[in-house]
Amino acid sequence: MALRRDDGDDLVSTRSISTISKVAISAVKRWYQSRPLPTHGPDGRRTPDFAELPAYRSISKYREYQKLFKLKDPFFQVHEQRSGAEAQIDGQHYINFASYDYLGLNQHPEVGAAARAAIEQFGTSVSASRLVAGERPLHGELEAALARFYETEEALIYVSGHATNVSAISTIIGPKDVIFHDEFIHNSAQTGGKLSGAKLVAFKHNDPEDLDRKLAEHRENHKFALVLIEGLYSMDGDVPDLAKFVEIKRRHGAWLMVDEAHGIGVLGETGHGIAEHCGIDPREVDIWMGTLSKTLSSCGGYVCGKRELIEVLKFQSPGFVYSVGLPAASAAAALKSLELIEQMPDRVKKLQENGKFFLEQCKALGLDTGSSEGFAVVPVIVGDAVLAIRLTHQVFRRGVNALPIIYPAVPLKSDRVRFFITSEHTHEQLATAARVIREELDLLANKGAHGARATAAE
Ligand SMILES: Cc1ncc(COP(=O)(O)O)c(C=O)c1O
Repeated sequence: MALRRDDGDDLVSTRSISTISKVAISAVKRWYQSRPLPTHGPDGRRTPDFAELPAYRSISKYREYQKLFKLKDPFFQVHEQRSGAEAQIDGQHYINFASYDYLGLNQHPEVGAAARAAIEQFGTSVSASRLVAGERPLHGELEAALARFYETEEALIYVSGHATNVSAISTIIGPKDVIFHDEFIHNSAQTGGKLSGAKLVAFKHNDPEDLDRKLAEHRENHKFALVLIEGLYSMDGDVPDLAKFVEIKRRHGAWLMVDEAHGIGVLGETGHGIAEHCGIDPREVDIWMGTLSKTLSSCGGYVCGKRELIEVLKFQSPGFVYSVGLPAASAAAALKSLELIEQMPDRVKKLQENGKFFLEQCKALGLDTGSSEGFAVVPVIVGDAVLAIRLTHQVFRRGVNALPIIYPAVPLKSDRVRFFITSEHTHEQLATAARVIREELDLLANKGAHGARATAAE
C-alpha cells in the first residue's frame, strides 16, 4: 500500500512510513530512557549513588593505578578455549597457571561425553530445588560416589562451592556456639561463620598449638564448637598436620571441618586428599567439604559426613533447600571425573611431581615461595600489590598467564603472583615460567619499581 499523488504516482510507500515511525519511536524511547530521574524523594530524602560505596572507592583507586602504569587488567581475561596447562587469550597462546584443572580432566573426552549424554536425557537445567521437582538420578549417584570416596555415611551436593560453606556452616552452628578457624581460611567459610552468629576465633595459620590454646580459653562457654581448616591452602600451597588437628579437636570435644577444594585429586598417593596424605582414617574428620569446580571439572560443592549431618543440611540449609539442584550435566561431569581419579593414579603422581619440580625451580632462582609445599599451588611472594600486578603484566607479555593475589585476599605485604600447577604441564613449561618470572622481577627491581622485597629473598 502507498499514499498516492493526484497523478497516480506513489507519494510515500507503506514501507517508508513504517521505517520513519520505527526511527521516531526509538528516538522517543532513547530520550525517555536518558532523561534524568529525580534524585530526591517527595520529603527531600536523597537516594545515595553507588559510587559513594567505600568498595567502589577502593576499586576506583585500583583503576587509577592501572591507568598510571598503563596496565592491562589481569582480571576477567577472556579465555577463548578450554583452559588448563595452556590457554588462548586474545588469539594468543599462553602457558597457563590460572586454572584449577589440576588433573586435566576438563579436557578429558569421557567427561565431555558424560555431560553431553546427561544434557540429552535431562536438559540443561533441573529448574527447581531438589526438594520439590529438581531431583534427578545423577544427584544420588554422585552423592553415593562422594560418600564412598571419603568413606563417610552420606554426602550432599550444592550448586556452588562457595554457597556450600556459607550454607552448611551457618546451618549447623548458631549464635550460642563457637567457630575456631585458621586465619587464612577461605572467604566462603568466613562468610558462613559470620552468618551463623557464632563467636569467631581465628588461630594462627597452620598452628595446631595456637588452636589448642584458643580452644582451652573459649570452648567451655559454648554448646557446639567447630574447627575450620583447609586440606591444601589455596593462597599458600601448604597443608595442615591433620593428625594433630584430629587429636586436639577430640580432646576439646569440637567438630572438625576440612575444606578439600584444593586437596581432592591433588593430595595422597591416589588423590584421596589430606586424609590419605597424612595417613588418617577419613572418619576422624566430622565434616568433609569440597568443590566440584576444580579437579572434578564441574561446578558446585559437596559435604560428606554422618547420616544425621546430611539429613539436617538436606532439610535446613538454605543454599540447598531454596536453591535449584545441580544441572544434570554438571553432576555427570563431576561423577565421571571422580571415577577417572580412581582410574588414573599416574596423573596424581605426575601432578605432585610437577608441583615439586616447579617449587624447586623457583627456589633455585631465589624466588620467595613462602610456605608452599609444592602441591599444585605455588605463590611467588613479592610483598607489594603494585609490583604483583606489574609482574603479572610483564610475564603475560612473555606468554605466561598467572594471576596476582593482593591485599585483602592475602595479608598486607604478602602480595603475590600465584601459580596453579597441573598434571598436564611439561617440565619445559614449568622451567620457562620460573625463569621468566625471575627475569621480569629483576627488571622491575632494577627499575626501582617496588622491588625491595622481591630481591630480599635471595
Ligand atoms: C578453599 C576454597 N573453598 C571454597 C571455594 C569455593 O568454591 P567454588 O569456586 O567452586 O564456588 C574455593 C574457591 O576457590 C576455595 O578455594
